[in-house]
Amino acid sequence: MELLQHDILIVGGGGAGLRAAIAIGEENPNLSVGVISKIYPMRSHTVSAEGGAAAVIKSNDSLDDHAYDTISGSDWLADQDAVEAFVKEAPEEMVQLEHWGCPWSREPDGSVAVRPFGGMKTERTWYAADKTGFHMLHTLFQTALKYNNITRYDEWFATKLLVHDGRCQGVAALELRTGQIRAIAGKGTILCTGGAGRIFPFTTNAAVKTGDGMALAYRAGVPLKDMEFVQYHPTGLPGTGILITEASRSEGGILINKDGYRYLQDYDLGEPLDVHDPRHPQKRTMELGPRDRLSQAFEKERQKGRTIKGEFGDYVHLDIRHTGEKNIEKKLPFVRELCRNYVGLDPVHELIPVRPVVHYMMGGVHTNIEGETPLPGLFAAGECACVSINGANRLGSNSLTELLVFGARVARAAVRFGVQAGDLATEKIIAQAQQEQRRIRERFFQPGSGQETIAGLRADMTHTMESGAGIYRSEESLRATCDRIREIKGRLGGLELADHSLTFNTELTAALELEYTLEVAEALAHSALARTESRGSHQRTDYPERDDERFLKHSLAYRTDGDPRIEYLDVVITRWPPGERVYGSK
Ligand code: FUM
Repeated sequence: MELLQHDILIVGGGGAGLRAAIAIGEENPNLSVGVISKIYPMRSHTVSAEGGAAAVIKSNDSLDDHAYDTISGSDWLADQDAVEAFVKEAPEEMVQLEHWGCPWSREPDGSVAVRPFGGMKTERTWYAADKTGFHMLHTLFQTALKYNNITRYDEWFATKLLVHDGRCQGVAALELRTGQIRAIAGKGTILCTGGAGRIFPFTTNAAVKTGDGMALAYRAGVPLKDMEFVQYHPTGLPGTGILITEASRSEGGILINKDGYRYLQDYDLGEPLDVHDPRHPQKRTMELGPRDRLSQAFEKERQKGRTIKGEFGDYVHLDIRHTGEKNIEKKLPFVRELCRNYVGLDPVHELIPVRPVVHYMMGGVHTNIEGETPLPGLFAAGECACVSINGANRLGSNSLTELLVFGARVARAAVRFGVQAGDLATEKIIAQAQQEQRRIRERFFQPGSGQETIAGLRADMTHTMESGAGIYRSEESLRATCDRIREIKGRLGGLELADHSLTFNTELTAALELEYTLEVAEALAHSALARTESRGSHQRTDYPERDDERFLKHSLAYRTDGDPRIEYLDVVITRWPPGERVYGSK
């Protein structure tokens, strides 16, 4: 087997992966970088981010305010040293992106425009209309093209980390065009594969977000941190789960129940400001509470019978009509486009049906503030990592900035590691890749019992996750979900693929992705079962209070041959002792 070799490997070609690749070029253009992506990088999920990216830029704002909003939004589970580094480096990264060509929207005076976002006490979210991720990803991609030391492996699917002598030395990857597994060696390997929203039935996440990097690390013995914290975005389209950006609420949109009542006023999220009131030009309203609280309020409305019944479950309405066609065309053109194309309505004149949908994993591969995992040679950044700046609830617009700040940081750490690391055990890792080739052929191309289908197993997984580990959970619901996930994992053996071809075998990649999602689902459900308190997005009906005494701690889920082992790690507190999260009238 031919060995492909680079100094640093990056798995994932989205925002974090491309920012890391550029940072390696900036650090040391003599180092060779391999970027492995199962899709063409411009199709990465970063492209679909809409509302914006947070960083302090205006004189009425401060780094401490950004840090405080992030920490209180996280329900004090974020590591404060990581948050302090994040808010400090965020503005530099955003200006850097401007210099690389990102077309940030402007104020009339030409300065960078910012909009308010949920849980932030002031306007600090930079945006490019409502296509921020699209413009950021284009900017990063075109900048990465400048660096001749970057080799792209587009449409290569990483199936295994190659670990020898206690050190990650690269990956085994399936070249989708040929169906061949190759060993790709690297002194440092950085996982930037995004989240795992696809373990739930309704999600804003693209079909590619199947937790690949999380599962690869978990299988290699690296713990997954804080997996119980799953963010529901309050405004997804029913059925497709497509995101209707928080920016539509930041521009003055309001949420109303089946009676046309602005129900959030009942949930201690602030006063229902008149969105036309000239005294509140930024229109910061209770609709800009944090996402966990808004999604929980939806669920309470549902229980009171005040939501609308639909084909894809209950929903409410988002009303942006009063914000005006001109404003919608200028600031929310994508929202209009999505509503027209996917729901057949025009939000300039009609109400938008919305419901909470899974949007983001606060948890991920356990790393320190530099993106180093406990496995030497393995690093992670972006949504697949848990640094952690998001704790129990991420504030909207922090994640795009996070992938810039920590994409760059992790690259510097991997370079430091790579330049002092010893030689790679090339023969050993080729042997491991050959073994991986055999495993995949035997596992998927031999006749099986044929009792199971990918779609059937996936539907069972997503539905048990939603019913047992959704917005509200309990011991009973979580135990049922853990049992069901174990049972579904057991049924994987009954899966037989109809397609044994080697060229772009999408059935094979779907099967590999299904296995990844089940690993992540297992870690998530068990972490949630073990955390007997309520904090941020993790709401236990049987333990409704936050319990700092026992659980001001990160969870760490380790893979075993049986159920995962859950351990705990102290949260880093620097300057902000745990307090109450206050958004409303209190
Ligand atoms: O609603 C949004 O535009 C999402 C932003 C985010 O998750 O950061």
